[in-house]
Amino acid sequence: MSLKNRNLVTIDDLSNGEIETIFSLADEMSESVKKQMNLCEGFIMATLFYEPSTRTRLSFETAMHRLGGRVISAADIGATSLSKGESIADMARVVGSYADIIVIRHPWEGSAKVVADYAGIPVINAGDGGHQHPTQTLCDLYTIKKERQTIKGLKIALWGDLKYGRTIHSLIFALAKFGADILFCPSPGLEVPEHIIKKLTTEYGGQLEKFEALDQTVKDSPFPLDAIYTTPSSPHQLAMMPDISIAVEMKSGVDALYVTRLQKERFTTAKEEQAIKKEYPVVDKKLLKGKLFKKTLVMHPLPRVDELAYEVDADPRSMYFKQAARGVPIRMALIALLLGTREIPIPIEDVSPTPKIDYPVYRRASGIRCNNSRCVSVQETEAKYIKPEFKIVDFKPLTLRCIYCEHGLEPQYIASSDWHEGRLESKKYHSADSHWVRKIKPGNLIIFDTEKEAQSRGFKPSSYVKRTRRKRLKKK
Ligand code: NCD
Repeated sequence: MSLKNRNLVTIDDLSNGEIETIFSLADEMSESVKKQMNLCEGFIMATLFYEPSTRTRLSFETAMHRLGGRVISAADIGATSLSKGESIADMARVVGSYADIIVIRHPWEGSAKVVADYAGIPVINAGDGGHQHPTQTLCDLYTIKKERQTIKGLKIALWGDLKYGRTIHSLIFALAKFGADILFCPSPGLEVPEHIIKKLTTEYGGQLEKFEALDQTVKDSPFPLDAIYTTPSSPHQLAMMPDISIAVEMKSGVDALYVTRLQKERFTTAKEEQAIKKEYPVVDKKLLKGKLFKKTLVMHPLPRVDELAYEVDADPRSMYFKQAARGVPIRMALIALLLGTREIPIPIEDVSPTPKIDYPVYRRASGIRCNNSRCVSVQETEAKYIKPEFKIVDFKPLTLRCIYCEHGLEPQYIASSDWHEGRLESKKYHSADSHWVRKIKPGNLIIFDTEKEAQSRGFKPSSYVKRTRRKRLKKK
């Protein structure tokens, strides 16, 4: 196994063994940061940051300088040809012909995947909108591992903006991969998106217990616990032992509290932001006095705003500046491995499988598109060349996952491209909840958002559509 020439777009791109390899090389790098000047001599890294950044960009650039490489940089979308209407694919091709590795941050979800598809050199996602931020996750996991020696079996609480926080989205899957339990503590209205919960519970095993079932003692605490994910290897399976109260489950305390700021740049109106801001929970000395937090690592990807009091900085449990500092050796290790200037063979037995389900793929040039307005695939400049592509992750109800932003869609209508030797009377569309969804071979499936769309393509409603319409009318 080698990381040479690979991309890091989502945390799923790395197996546990590969993550451990990055950590052991980061250990080596941090012991001799100043002695690595020959490792990447002659290589160029392009840092393209089209959203604000301090830590991520500067630690990547420091890492490359420490490795003896050079850096070219574009940090303002307005100063690049993207503002003239150039597509991300064209930009990626061009930068790919100048540099040896690209680090990209961009507001559109799935944009890093497009860069990786077209650049022809290794690409690292430094944050694509609210989707993922896998290198921050490496710094977070590395910190937990350094402080607690293991991740398995720990209880990690995720706090604040779990809806838009991309560091949260990458961290959730990483924690599940390493066998930690996750406590979800969202600010009201900023719960983890449904498509992430679905992926977590179907692909990583484990159980999710929602708020309603939680013990009253926990509900009444200032700790805004909303749900608990227990990994399959957890000794306490809540769902299997419903009579065991959460208070017992929590007796060992919280191992890490991962605080995040309100991602205000993802809100569409100031009014919406103000309403949510009022209820945003704050981590301060008073909260950390609680029994639950006696040995808790207080973490934050930074920048902090109001959600984490400055008074916590002097507390030995605070970890956030260490997390940020560890960004340099982690990124040094990652760059050297992706460029192949350091190759560390990973024994096959250490490569614990990242859960992978071979979902059928749905890919048609026209028709259904991702319904996430922040997805790269629906932007005017990108929709000209990106073919919508989805994984069919469920048939009941029919659920698609966009391969770019990973949002879920539950389309209502389907048809088969194989309409019985071209006989017009059999050119019918059906409800997606009819048995046809399994009968039509995935390769022949045509999926529509609306009946209008099906009809505009010349399909007529089948009796299954009429039946569903009748059922819906009755319900009304
Ligand atoms: C995070 C990000 O950009 O997502 N910052 C970082 O990279 N350390 C977190 C944030 O901005 O809130």
